[in-house]
Amino acid sequence: MILDKISSLLDEINNLDAKTSEEVENLRVKYLSKKGEITALFDDFRTVAPEMKREVGQKLNELKVSAQNKINALKEKHAAEAAQAERLDVSREGTSHEIGGRHPISIVKNDIIDIFSRLGFTVAEGPEVEDDWHVFTALNFPLEHPARDMQDTFFINTNPDILLRTHTSSVQVRVMEHQQPPIRAIFPGRVFRNEAISSRAHCIFHQVEGLYVAENVSFADLKQTLLYFAKEMFGQQSQIRLRPSYFPFTEPSAEMDVSCSLCGGKGCSVCKGTGWLEILGCGMVDPAVLEANHIDSKKYSGFAFGMGVERIAMLRYQIKDIRLFFENDVRFLKQFQSAL
Ligand code: DAH
Repeated sequence: MILDKISSLLDEINNLDAKTSEEVENLRVKYLSKKGEITALFDDFRTVAPEMKREVGQKLNELKVSAQNKINALKEKHAAEAAQAERLDVSREGTSHEIGGRHPISIVKNDIIDIFSRLGFTVAEGPEVEDDWHVFTALNFPLEHPARDMQDTFFINTNPDILLRTHTSSVQVRVMEHQQPPIRAIFPGRVFRNEAISSRAHCIFHQVEGLYVAENVSFADLKQTLLYFAKEMFGQQSQIRLRPSYFPFTEPSAEMDVSCSLCGGKGCSVCKGTGWLEILGCGMVDPAVLEANHIDSKKYSGFAFGMGVERIAMLRYQIKDIRLFFENDVRFLKQFQSAL
């Protein structure tokens, strides 16, 4: 009787399987726990006739060992499967992190800084919220000059003395009031003008200002510096042209054109058929500006220039609408990847 029971349990156990480690644990409880079926047979063993004890005892022990082995094997199988599931799957597609790119205005600004630093210009910055003295008065703007007009300038809290700078020329004053010549520096920064926004104009834009004050600085130095800049920025074939102009803080003053790099000067739609593109204003620092900043205008002379970064970026990348620089549309910005 008990021998039949043992052999049927042995069959059962040899065919056991479990889908999860929980099922394995249930099988252990079913056969081997205190109330398990095999444990119960050991209780029955006491009632077995003495002459049978030896044979039954042996079979019973074999059954128990088989059950333990089987359950251990199932346990190991599920543990191995769980470990496998956690293992790194090198064939899976990775999650990549996109690297950001520089804004085109930063790229061009950094290029301008690079070019002038090769000529020994250092970089300085000044405040965006300025006063009338630094933006206008110390730069020789007459009181009735239209640039002071409410229409061009953003004033702070209707205080006509505090305003958002309309050009980076204000940093010339900031530097000259703290430093005696020689001064050779550029000033990149944001400027603000109360203008209607269009494809060609924005109320916020960027300039890079340049100032060189020392003994015997001449217009020839200015021209040579700007020619070097144009060739570095737009290519070695570039030529420049200086046209007489007027700025209150320079005398003489000029506007500089660079030969159109698209048509090589023959005339195209970008240069409107002229072969030239206007890129900056410049001139010899007016002696009145040096004197306003306590620099001896008999001993020292200087040149200055100022350029719009957006304008240069638009020419370089052939961008027709200045507003694109401020909209931060990633489809636009992604096109200007550069080495960071
Ligand atoms: N500040 C002028 C502007 O915003 C640009 C300029 C012209 C700067 C001539 C200069 C300069 O330093 O010499 O239009």
